[in-house]
Amino acid sequence: MSHVPHILVTGGAGFIGSHTVDVLMNRGYAVSVLDNLSTGYMTNLERWEKHPRFHFVNADITGELTSAFARIVAHSGRIERIAHFAAQTAVPVSMDDPVGDIQANLCGTARILEYARHNKVTKVFFASSSAIYDDDAPVPVSEESRARPMSPYGIDKLAVEFYLDYYAKLYGLTYTALRFMNVYGPRQDPKSWYSGVISIFLDRAVTGQPITIFDDGEQTRDFVYVTDVAEAVADTLMSRSGDNAIINIGTGVEVTINQLTRTILDLAGSASTLRYEPPRPGDIRRSVTTMEKAVELLNFHPRVALRDGLHATLAWVRQDKTRSAARSGSAA
Ligand code: UD1
Repeated sequence: MSHVPHILVTGGAGFIGSHTVDVLMNRGYAVSVLDNLSTGYMTNLERWEKHPRFHFVNADITGELTSAFARIVAHSGRIERIAHFAAQTAVPVSMDDPVGDIQANLCGTARILEYARHNKVTKVFFASSSAIYDDDAPVPVSEESRARPMSPYGIDKLAVEFYLDYYAKLYGLTYTALRFMNVYGPRQDPKSWYSGVISIFLDRAVTGQPITIFDDGEQTRDFVYVTDVAEAVADTLMSRSGDNAIINIGTGVEVTINQLTRTILDLAGSASTLRYEPPRPGDIRRSVTTMEKAVELLNFHPRVALRDGLHATLAWVRQDKTRSAARSGSAA
C-alpha cells in the first residue's frame, strides 16, 4: 500500500479549520485534529468522526501538549505536516484580555513550532491575518504594505510571522503564512457581537430581525469564500508552493457594506429593516488586497463569486436553524 501522509490540523473543529479538514480528507490524507472545542464544534467534523483516516484529540494549545501529541502519534503515526489554526480569534477579545491572547496565540503557537522543530515536521501552515496591516495603509494592501497592528490579536499574528522566519533560518523549518482578508461561509458562528458581518446579516435576514449597519455603509471589505481559502491552505501545505513565504489571501474585489446588505436581502427575500449607527470604534474604512503574490506563488484564483458564496451560506444558515430547532425540540 502506498504511504498516506499524516497531517495535524490544530483548531480543526473551527470555521476555517474544519473546511481545511474536509479538503485534506477528500484528498485522501490521514488527518488528526487537535481542538479544545472552545469556539469550535464537533458537528463541524461529524462526517469524519468514524472515518479510519480521521482522529480527534481534545486538547488546549495553552496547556501541556506532550500527552496529546503522544496520543496522536500512537494512533496515526508521525505527524508530517501541521496546519495551525488553533487560536483566540476575536480582535475585541484580544483588546479586553491581551495576556490571554498572548497565551493562546503566541505561547500556544510557540509550542506547536517547538514540536515541529524537534520532530522534523516537513511543513507548517500558519493562519495569519490582514489585521497586521496599518489602518492607514493605502488600498489595495500588498504584502509589502506597512505592518502596524492595532490590536493585540494583530500584534501576536505578526509576532508569529517573525517566529516562523526565525525558525526557518535557525532550524530549517519550512512554513507558509497566509494573511486572510474577510473569510465567510458555512459554519461561521453568528452568535457573538464580534462575529463576521456576513454571518450576522444572514442570520438577521433569515429571521427578519433588523440589520445594523455601522457608519454610512460605504466602508469596504474583501470577502473570500471559506472553501477557496481551505483549498489554498491544503495546496500550500502539501506542496512546495509558497515555501517560507507570507501571502495575502482575498479576492481583490472591494465591496461596500451597503452593496453586501442589498445582495443578502435580495437573496434571502427578506424584509429586515436597516438601522444606521455611528462607526464602530477601530473600524477601518477600506480593505482589499492585491492578488499578485497569491497568483504568482500559489496560482490562487478564487472560484466562488460573492453572490454564489452568499447563496450557499444562506442555504447553510437555513439548514442549521432547522437542525437546531429539531435538536431543541427533541431535547424538550
Ligand atoms: C475582520 C476580521 C478580523 C480581522 C480583520 C482584518 C471577522 C469577524 N473579523 O474584521 O478578525 O482581523 O477583518 O481585516 O472576520 N458591520 C456592520 N454591522 C454589523 C457588523 C459589522 O455594519 O453588525 C461592518 C463593520 O463596521 C465593518 C464591516 O461590517 O465595517 C466588517 O466587519 P467584520 O465582519 O466584523 O470584520 P472586520 O472588522 O473587517
